[in-house]
Amino acid sequence: MTTIGKSIRQSPVVKQAIDAIVAEVEAKTAAIEGPKPPDPGLKTEYDELVAAAGKSRGRDLLYPYLGSGAGRGALVELADGSIKWDLVTGIGVHVLGHSNPKVIRAQLESSLEDTTKHGNLQSGTAPYAFAQKLVELASRNSPLRHAFLTTSGAMANESALKVCMQKTAPADRVLAFEHCFMGRSLTMTSIGDSAGARDGLPINQAVDYVPFWDSYEADEMGGATKWIDAAIAKVQGYIDRFPKRHAMFVMELIQGEGGFRVPHRTYLEELMKLCKANGIPVWDDEIQSFGRTTEMFAYETFGLGEYVDVLCVGKMTHACAAMFTEDMNPRPGLLSGTFTGATVDFAVGEAVLDELANGGYYGEEGKFAKHHAEFTKHSEALIAKHPAWFPDFRGEKVAGIGGMMRLTPFGGDKPKIVAAAKAIYEAGAVLFWCGHGPFHLRMLPPVPALSMEDWPRIFEVIEKGLAEAAG
Ligand SMILES: Cc1ncc(COP(=O)(O)O)c(C=O)c1O
Repeated sequence: MTTIGKSIRQSPVVKQAIDAIVAEVEAKTAAIEGPKPPDPGLKTEYDELVAAAGKSRGRDLLYPYLGSGAGRGALVELADGSIKWDLVTGIGVHVLGHSNPKVIRAQLESSLEDTTKHGNLQSGTAPYAFAQKLVELASRNSPLRHAFLTTSGAMANESALKVCMQKTAPADRVLAFEHCFMGRSLTMTSIGDSAGARDGLPINQAVDYVPFWDSYEADEMGGATKWIDAAIAKVQGYIDRFPKRHAMFVMELIQGEGGFRVPHRTYLEELMKLCKANGIPVWDDEIQSFGRTTEMFAYETFGLGEYVDVLCVGKMTHACAAMFTEDMNPRPGLLSGTFTGATVDFAVGEAVLDELANGGYYGEEGKFAKHHAEFTKHSEALIAKHPAWFPDFRGEKVAGIGGMMRLTPFGGDKPKIVAAAKAIYEAGAVLFWCGHGPFHLRMLPPVPALSMEDWPRIFEVIEKGLAEAAG
């Protein structure tokens, strides 16, 4: 017995057509071999497209970047015919690289469904197949058992916030790290520790900020233990001042926007233990770090899964989710919404999860660790070659973990970092910045689509851009 829906997906005619389209995309994109400048014949049209895009949203684009819809691996073609290394992949979204045959196939197969969007009221099977896979992977090393699907990271975080608040009601305060980023809804900009994101907005959430790990401060204080003890005492102080008022501690275990900062494991564990002792749920926001540390989940990288009550993922997973333990499962009515997402989000999200789970990416010998080592090697060579571009500052000049890569020229001075990112863009590579001072060049490259031979070519472009920025 079968359904008509299944018979469409399994139809040999459909399969042949999809195979033919995937092969055609591969044949056409095979011509993409390395960075190249824009096609002068497309310049006028492109400039008009960029101007129109800025006009439609009321603000110029940060980079004059409009993709053509094609690329190959870590290389992307723009609508002006230029080709660039894509080292930031939409803040890590296009992790499998451009025009990846697995992604093209998943997108084509998704297009066969009768509707684009699935909802909480009426749904096909795709959202739950994705959610089940996510739960399977998360539950290997944590008590997480359920996933509520959302269409953005901010909405996953809003859901996580509600789950924690309902569980601990009437607790109404949040413990959060300094310099955390949580998304752009009103409450997330209240909690997220970035002045620019709150500009002109009311603060609608009481937050007690806790310092994020700082190895320089720890050295100055006489060691990690002293620093950790002082920070834990500060958290205990908040708990004593507001007994039973903290609904959760939200932790980006590795900070993304805040500057690709990797904390001391003991600090995280001590914080989590303190939360457990005081009935404060631990909410792990892995929206930026998921998938790209040296294990699939950052809590696995630190071996701290047992403490996690609520977790959010997004970006790389395409479809976003708030996950929680059996104990944190909220009462009916708390979580819902018209959309869970589009079929294509779930299909591509599943393809990403499959690739990550089975492609040899994790562990000390995994691809994320190896590419990070190669990035570090080339960064250090560049620093040795051009020491004047890399003055000392209060931080490491090369840092991050796995596919989260950070390089800091010009002492981390914001205007110079922004100018450097823009010069590198002109030279042929797209990257971004992070941090709240010092600022850093931020890379989230499509590791699964990179080969080790790409790194010298990428660093040629970075060197050219930095030379331009250094004047
Ligand atoms: C740690 C973290 N949480 C939440 C978000 C918000 O995700 P979205 O932009 O999909 O709403 C981001 C986005 O940068 C993030 O890095």
